[in-house]
Amino acid sequence: MTDKNELAQIGVVGLAVMGSNLARNFARNGNTVAVYNRSPEKTHALIEAHGEEGNFVPSETIEDFVASLERPRKAIIMVKAGKATDAVIDQLAEAMDEGDVIIDGGNALFTDTIRREKDVAARGKHFVGAGISGGEEGALNGPSIMPGGPKESWETLGPILESIAANVDGTPCVTHIGPDGAGHFVKMVHNGIEYADMQVIGEAYQLLRYGAGMEPAEIAEVFREWNSGDLDSYLIEITAEVLAQKDPETGAPLVDVIVDAAGQKGTGRWTAINGLELGVPITGIAESVFARALSSSTAQRRAAQEGQLPAGTIKELDVDKAAFIEDVRRALYAAKLIAYSQGFDEIKAGSEEFGWDVDPRDLATIWRGGCIIRAKFLDRIRAAYDKNADLPALILDPYFKGELEDLIDPWRRVVVAATQLGLPAPVFASSLSYYDSLRAERLPAALIQGQRDFFGAHTFKRTDKPGVFHIEWSGDRSLTQTD
Ligand code: 6PG
Repeated sequence: MTDKNELAQIGVVGLAVMGSNLARNFARNGNTVAVYNRSPEKTHALIEAHGEEGNFVPSETIEDFVASLERPRKAIIMVKAGKATDAVIDQLAEAMDEGDVIIDGGNALFTDTIRREKDVAARGKHFVGAGISGGEEGALNGPSIMPGGPKESWETLGPILESIAANVDGTPCVTHIGPDGAGHFVKMVHNGIEYADMQVIGEAYQLLRYGAGMEPAEIAEVFREWNSGDLDSYLIEITAEVLAQKDPETGAPLVDVIVDAAGQKGTGRWTAINGLELGVPITGIAESVFARALSSSTAQRRAAQEGQLPAGTIKELDVDKAAFIEDVRRALYAAKLIAYSQGFDEIKAGSEEFGWDVDPRDLATIWRGGCIIRAKFLDRIRAAYDKNADLPALILDPYFKGELEDLIDPWRRVVVAATQLGLPAPVFASSLSYYDSLRAERLPAALIQGQRDFFGAHTFKRTDKPGVFHIEWSGDRSLTQTD
């Protein structure tokens, strides 16, 4: 139904699949939705195909679109990230009035969001960078939404976003994350965790396929079973679907027909870069980004295969298959735990750096439904932060520590098996090293400090007394105190 005279509670600019689905979700949940797309064909197509799902007010100019919104006006931009977003923000800010709210629902880089929020605020309007997760299906049926921006904008925006968000046990999967770029920052780290989660699932598949010699359909069954336990999550669920799928053309397992070069639009890479900038060891996330990059280094991989880089001679696994599958499940669980723990570390560090005051409990709550990393164990994460909001690391929560006690031996066995068989398992292995580094009494960093002092007089601290010291390496090797 369309009614030109009715004012809309919310508007959507950009009607590609995500924008259209979001507009339909608003309409289906009783909101009157203004819709606008630069080329009007998309607007017509939406109204034609789905106009009956609720109240839409279509416009062909941005001015008409803005005029069709009730005040304070609220418009969500769902266009390509980057320049296109800047152009639409400018048009909206021009046409809107003081106190109106512009929302960017794309995957924007949080530093762009900080800049945009400042610019739009200077023009008297509110700007909200909102991470929206759940893909096309989530946009239509209930995403997880992570809005940042000024707290006042949440007062008017909150109820309308709650009306379309996923809902778990009566709690909508949306809340105000923090000022300016906080929402997009958190969405970025969500995607980083998503990369790591997908990679560890991939590594488990690789081990079952080429270590235990199982076929995709058989592995699909294993994943289906795993989905009923600790690993219960959307990504495990869809993995079983993908592995069970046959290629409609050849009848071969689809996974064997797909080129093994993983794409990426950049959010995982941003998470890794930001982790490096903040000095947070998000090793699982970074390894996952590198793993995608390596998979796409087609020419180099071909050269390595054709040049027959030696594999070593250990070829077979000397283990019981059922026991190996269970070990892989536990290694996957452990590496996944590390990925989430590191992701929450990055959010904590970002929140401190930018003064956002992000509450980890909120994230564990709104990630339980709608988003790509939704998983049963987020309830456990929430409980952990409920008990202690200042946990030094998620894996130090008593529940997760207890879990790790059960996981650690199988995890080590799996990393050893992967290494012996020459099967790549970068996140399984690096997460284990991260874990062992955290718990190590002494790290080789002491030696590194010695080396730095040797070649650059970079000084070092001592374990036995305060102060800063240097050895006269090229002289008499005496100790001097520099501070
Ligand atoms: C989500 C997804 C979504 C999208 C990403 C990942 O939370 O709904 O993360 O934002 O799938 O763009 O894409 P890449 O794997 O291409 O980086």
